[in-house]
Amino acid sequence: MAEVIYFLNKDTLIIKPPKKSPLVYRMIVLAFSMFCGVYICSICLKQINRHAKPNLVNIQITEEPGELHGTKQSDRTSIHYPKPETFSRAECADNPVRYFVIISTQRSGSGWFETLLNSHPNVSSNGEIFSIMDRRKNVSSILQTLDQVYNLDWFSSASKNECSAAVGFKWMLNQGVMDHHIEIGQYFTHWRVSVIFLFRRNLLRRKVSVLANSYDRYAKLLNGTHKSHVHSPQEAVTLSRYKPTINSSSLINDFKEMESAVFKVLTYYNSTRHIVLYYEDLMKNWAKLNEVQEFLDLPTKDLTSRQIKIHSGPLSDHIKNWNDVLKTLDGTSYERFIHAD
Ligand SMILES: *[C@@H]1O[C@H](CO)[C@@H](O)[C@H](O)[C@H]1NC(C)=O
Ligand SMILES: *[C@@H]1O[C@H](CO)[C@@H](O)[C@H](O)[C@H]1NC(C)=O
Ligand SMILES: *[C@@H]1O[C@H](CO)[C@@H](O)[C@H](O)[C@H]1NC(C)=O
Ligand SMILES: *[C@@H]1O[C@H](CO)[C@@H](O)[C@H](O)[C@H]1NC(C)=O
Ligand SMILES: *[C@@H]1O[C@H](CO)[C@@H](O)[C@H](O)[C@H]1NC(C)=O
Repeated sequence: MAEVIYFLNKDTLIIKPPKKSPLVYRMIVLAFSMFCGVYICSICLKQINRHAKPNLVNIQITEEPGELHGTKQSDRTSIHYPKPETFSRAECADNPVRYFVIISTQRSGSGWFETLLNSHPNVSSNGEIFSIMDRRKNVSSILQTLDQVYNLDWFSSASKNECSAAVGFKWMLNQGVMDHHIEIGQYFTHWRVSVIFLFRRNLLRRKVSVLANSYDRYAKLLNGTHKSHVHSPQEAVTLSRYKPTINSSSLINDFKEMESAVFKVLTYYNSTRHIVLYYEDLMKNWAKLNEVQEFLDLPTKDLTSRQIKIHSGPLSDHIKNWNDVLKTLDGTSYERFIHAD
């Protein structure tokens, strides 16, 4: 208050011209008092809001992991103590567990990302469980599968069983997560599932990877076995020897559809606690992985993966009808994909 008065006096002293009538003088004082009143009120309101927040935020609405740790109360709502039916959590029964899901699209680095997560001793990310049609046939089969995963009763090579501190799986956009978003959204909110969105910015590179991977499903370039991910430079070279031809007449439309699907899923799950990651950012900056670990409230570890990028180097080396693609994208908003990583 003292400060406000001080400013008022100072300003009136400066403004006060010798010939101003008392009315003008009074108006100026009135205007300043009104301004100060509004200012003080707005500060009070802000503080009230800040105090009220911990009680209101039951559902986390955030993209910044940093914001999550401000309130202990909201932290407590998203931890669980599952009691699996298939085994005993033994000495880790008192360790809290967080539920997460990686929502992504094929060939966007989610396989690599998942191996990184699973290199953490307390993470069980159980792979693409909804690639099996039966599990996503209807909402009840989806929710039943989710129950099993989050109760730690799901077994995959990634399950850490008793000492998991974060349990989840990856879910592709075309595996039911869009079609049944209302019920799944309710489930996520109720069980405080944290969503990790992982997308790839360069949709042209993604396209190359999709086409090459689907070719290899039949061609089986690596000694007669199909591999979606590789662990050695030789394997990467062998797989990248195949150059796909890209259908340039549907390319722009494909990009638009993909962008719209990503936008939709972000809208559907916007009120679920989430973080948005891009493959390119992760590749450039592994420190992003610490953000992910913070987001899942894990003890921070150095995460490792043996996977190697298949199509590295300029895109022109990886597309058969390169000139065609160049011409198609020239002058469009997708031109940026041509030179970017
Ligand atoms: C959902 O699918 C499961 C598994 O295929 C089936 O057993 C069940 O009857 C279906 N439920 C509904 C409500 O359609
Ligand atoms: C992580 O796992 C180890 C054993 O592998 C266990 O001792 C530790 O308590 C776990 N940490 C958390 C946070 O659950
Ligand atoms: C294919 O098999 C041969 C012989 O077993 C091995 O030397 C070679 O490394 C394999 N190549 C790939 C790409 O796995
Ligand atoms: C390329 O895309 C166009 C337009 O979607 C489609 O009509 C055509 O059949 C496609 N060509 C090939 C070879 O798939
Ligand atoms: C999600 O919600 C935030 C905050 O309300 C908003 O800024 C953002 O545009 C929304 N994103 C989408 C994709 O709806």
